[in-house]
Amino acid sequence: MTTSVQPLRVALLGCGVVGSSVATMLVTQAQDLHERVGRPLELVGIAVRRLDRDRATVPVDPSLFTTDAAELVTRADIVVEVMGGIDPARELILSALQHGASVVTANKALLAEDGPSLYAAAHENGVDIYYEAAVAGAIPILRPIRESLAGDDVRRVLGIVNGTTNFVLDKMDSTGAGLTETVEQAQELGYAEADPTADVEGFDAAAKAAILASLAFHTRVSGADVHREGITEVTAADIQAAKDMGCVVKLLAICERTGEPGSGDDGVNVRVHPAMVPRSHPLASVREAYNAVFVEATAAGELMFYGKGAGGDPTASAVMGDIVAVARHRVSGGRGPGESAYAQLPVHDIGKASTRYHISLAVADRPGVLAQVASVFAAHGVSIQAVRQQVVGGDGEEHAAQAYLIVVTHTAPDAALTATVEALSDLDTVTDVVSVMRVEGS
Ligand code: HSE
Repeated sequence: MTTSVQPLRVALLGCGVVGSSVATMLVTQAQDLHERVGRPLELVGIAVRRLDRDRATVPVDPSLFTTDAAELVTRADIVVEVMGGIDPARELILSALQHGASVVTANKALLAEDGPSLYAAAHENGVDIYYEAAVAGAIPILRPIRESLAGDDVRRVLGIVNGTTNFVLDKMDSTGAGLTETVEQAQELGYAEADPTADVEGFDAAAKAAILASLAFHTRVSGADVHREGITEVTAADIQAAKDMGCVVKLLAICERTGEPGSGDDGVNVRVHPAMVPRSHPLASVREAYNAVFVEATAAGELMFYGKGAGGDPTASAVMGDIVAVARHRVSGGRGPGESAYAQLPVHDIGKASTRYHISLAVADRPGVLAQVASVFAAHGVSIQAVRQQVVGGDGEEHAAQAYLIVVTHTAPDAALTATVEALSDLDTVTDVVSVMRVEGS
């Protein structure tokens, strides 16, 4: 039984795929939301760029649509930003916070670029800024890291946090096709944007990695701190090479502690790159456009969070959860946890990360080559786990045989592995460094 009380005014910035799902849920679930929050949530406006779009499927009074976002944020208790982009989203969020509104945003790019300014503004004005939808869509992952694991010691977060690239890599794995044609197929099916740069070059995953690392390690990590490699260099041959060693290729966001506490090397490393993952690892079974985040914490051990990382309704689910959370705080008079960056751990570059490499070399097939290659690894302190030679071709003088050495290393600092690959490419007997890929999750 609810009594008549003053509604909490909700303003929505953006009415694209996510915004229209949020607007619909606010309207269709109004009674349940009222019960769960303790006060009604009233949608007081939806800021859009243009008023002439057909929005008949969004079940709201058309008079709620406005192009004056700056005015709208001044008359709301909760501002929901799902417009994306850096500007004007940043100014609108700052204005909302300064006017005393709590903010819910899905804007990973903005948070990775300028999160601390927004968190500070929320703190100064005694309100919340929540952003569960910014990472991995529907999957509850930020709240578990920020709250459920707040008493543990998170050591590593491994995430498949970009559905587009996971779809592309999964299809390459199942069909044997190359990258370009698979990206085109993903575009036709609506999984990839017309301009897929943010996804295939790893920018989207890097922003999410920065947000995950900041929360997991109580340290400010920006998008610029993240080592980023996308999937554009991944070939059908890489996928086959991964298969040959019982792995799949995934674009991983990796956030990890480096060094032991008090060792002087203690810090964090955050990177996004394609990696071979053993098929036995839980992340290897994440297919199509799904996302998953694998967390390793000292006491909890290994945890995995799985689900839809994009799409209107899944992302709106995370937004709605945040709306309810910040609304409850307004009803109870408190605030949720703000930024926690007390640890201020140094953010190391990828050179200090410990990884394994899978290296494919085209080599001359003559005595002493294997020993020469092995000596380069030894000189850089990199231990070889396995070596395999493949000879391709050799069907007559026109098609001379080509020998390939496939080398898989034990774990070593990335800097040593990079230097090893450079030295290998200088050898006369190495005609080509065909591919280099990190191996993770084993
Ligand atoms: N473009 C992203 C993806 C979803 O493919 O996962 C939004 O971050």
